[in-house]
Amino acid sequence: MDSLSIRGGVPLRGEVQISGAKNAVLPIMAATLLTDEPCVIRHVPNLSDVRFMGQILESLGAKVEFEKDVLRVHAKKIQGAGDYDLIRKMRGSICILGPLLGRLRQAKVSLPGGCVIGARPVDLHLKGMEALGTKVTVQNGYVTAKAPKLAGSEVFLGGRAGPTVLGTANVMMAAALADGITVIESAACEPEVIDLADFLNSMGARITGAGSPTVQIAGVSRLHGAEHEVIPDRIEAATFAIAAAATGGEVTLRGARPDHLSAVFDKLSESNVRVERKGRIVTVKRGGKLRPIDVTTLPYSGFPTDVQAQMMVLMCLTSGISIITERVFESRFMHVSELARLGADISIEGPSAIVKGGRPLSGAPVMASDLRASAALVIAGLAASGTTVVNRVYHIDRGYEQIDEKLRKLGARIERIKET
Ligand code: UD1
Repeated sequence: MDSLSIRGGVPLRGEVQISGAKNAVLPIMAATLLTDEPCVIRHVPNLSDVRFMGQILESLGAKVEFEKDVLRVHAKKIQGAGDYDLIRKMRGSICILGPLLGRLRQAKVSLPGGCVIGARPVDLHLKGMEALGTKVTVQNGYVTAKAPKLAGSEVFLGGRAGPTVLGTANVMMAAALADGITVIESAACEPEVIDLADFLNSMGARITGAGSPTVQIAGVSRLHGAEHEVIPDRIEAATFAIAAAATGGEVTLRGARPDHLSAVFDKLSESNVRVERKGRIVTVKRGGKLRPIDVTTLPYSGFPTDVQAQMMVLMCLTSGISIITERVFESRFMHVSELARLGADISIEGPSAIVKGGRPLSGAPVMASDLRASAALVIAGLAASGTTVVNRVYHIDRGYEQIDEKLRKLGARIERIKET
């Protein structure tokens, strides 16, 4: 397994181009299964999760070509049972369930496994499919769904922790080819849901209200091929913005969507980080001494859980007490013990992490536990004195396109150590 070696203490300076959004492209790739015509997706990040989803589509019978940032999928003839082990490995693969049901009226997919960021049930996905008239059984690790007739219906998708992003995507995709009208209440409002709806509509679907808690889908009898450009990755943009602030540098994000980042930019401003926006160009630098802040993660348009770990690093570098409360995924604090190795003082009280910031961080070997935790450890390594080695970086390669190369261009002393 590769690792990243970082010699910290260099303020990041320069410009970085933001890639296409991982969380938008995965469901969009799944949506290509809804038509027997070719689809072209542009601005696709070259990530291991994307290549992995490509393999899943191929295992179902689709032809997949990925060149530069253009992905072509032709699902002319597909089968409804996915490869158990392939699907089990990636949580995002659950979003093939909706398209398979829509197109074939049946699907058999493995239950995505648990994950270190907390229990990740799929009950809401299944509830949505059942509302459309699907008979769902869960047995021997498989979800088997059959719907000789898929009928539009009203479905409430709010759960204990709020709406579900991929659950909303799944129901939207199945309902696109159902008979009649489906109304999703308490739908996820994330920009990635809007991007999926835009793609589906360009395929001939009739979806309105995406981005609001009520989404209406008028089913159509068939969908056609389409071309689509994926939205920029707001989590990648937030990660670089925080890295700029953490290292005391100045970084310009190119091709970002500041309108997708209001909650993050608001908190950065509160902590005395200056965020200047000019269209899709955003420049981030400290405004002076950092100020402690309180952050609570929430579904969109609240502060994203996927930026919680990175923000915690900034809090570690800020004198005073900051509090970060995780409301989306319980136990998403695996990075805390690793940050402690660098000298951070963080205690966990229920869903909150209390950060006593301002202690100097010094490099150490650390272990990445999940995608965003890895990004946080890289930022911490960039801000710490000495050398930090982040092990198990395959997590970071799942969701950040060439992060080491992008950081090097900003002046970071970061090397990938290949496993021999
Ligand atoms: C997506 C993102 C992930 C992000 C998350 C929350 C992708 C590929 N992943 O994951 O990066 O962190 O949104 O913004 O887009 N829940 C249930 N029952 C369900 C489904 C979810 O109780 O059937 C709960 C989850 O345990 C969690 C909350 O709902 O507490 C939100 O999860 P959800 O929005 O579904 O996350 P994902 O869509 O899997």
